[in-house]
Amino acid sequence: MIIAIDGPAGSGKSTVAKIVADKLNFRYIDTGSMYRSVAWKSLQKNAALKDEDAVADIASKVKIELIYGKKGQLVFVDGENITDQLKVEEISRGAAIVAAQPMIREIMTIKQRKLGLEGKVVMDGRDIGTVVFPKADKKFFLDADPKERGRRRFIELKEKKQINNADLPTIIEQVVQRDHEDRSRKIAPLKQAKDAMLIDTTHLSIDQVVEEIIKVIVPGSQTF
Ligand code: DC
Repeated sequence: MIIAIDGPAGSGKSTVAKIVADKLNFRYIDTGSMYRSVAWKSLQKNAALKDEDAVADIASKVKIELIYGKKGQLVFVDGENITDQLKVEEISRGAAIVAAQPMIREIMTIKQRKLGLEGKVVMDGRDIGTVVFPKADKKFFLDADPKERGRRRFIELKEKKQINNADLPTIIEQVVQRDHEDRSRKIAPLKQAKDAMLIDTTHLSIDQVVEEIIKVIVPGSQTF
């Protein structure tokens, strides 16, 4: 069974997807961290992020491991734990650049489909319900008001002490800008699959969103 959860940054999808996966005893796969890992590795190798051939070469060779434990998700790239480096602005920007390139998307899509074949998976991203698994068993699209999404990203960065003096309006601006890039790119743009259930999380708690999703996956369940 494959559960696809797509949506823009700050919609709550990663937090929610992880809890849903825990509750169902499924594996959680955060595809955004895969694009972030490719951007990180490319920068390490001093590759120009817009050089599609160079980045594709890196993407096809890099070993990305997503490991979940009590401390949350750990990301290892070629054996190195880079978890704490992935949410900084430079990598967010870099991931959006590499994610717009067709060759990189193809390589990542193949990797993601392989992971999905293991079954019992909750996968979150931008194109899981539309491109990676158009026949996913259940699809959800989470969205929220851009100001609220910016506020959530601001709090997340603050907690991780990765705010770099940026204020809330700047973070909201960055979130809106990245949304625009994700939604307007030619290949696999961020959009709701026709058969995905839309959940507006602006005024919902994480628990409420999780409950909505679990109710659909396990009809008749009473989670809270
Ligand atoms: O979810 P995130 O913020 O970690 O994603 C990082 C970038 O990767 C973001 O610009 C969107 C892009 N992405 C994508 O294009 N397709 C996915 N399946 C996941 C992320």
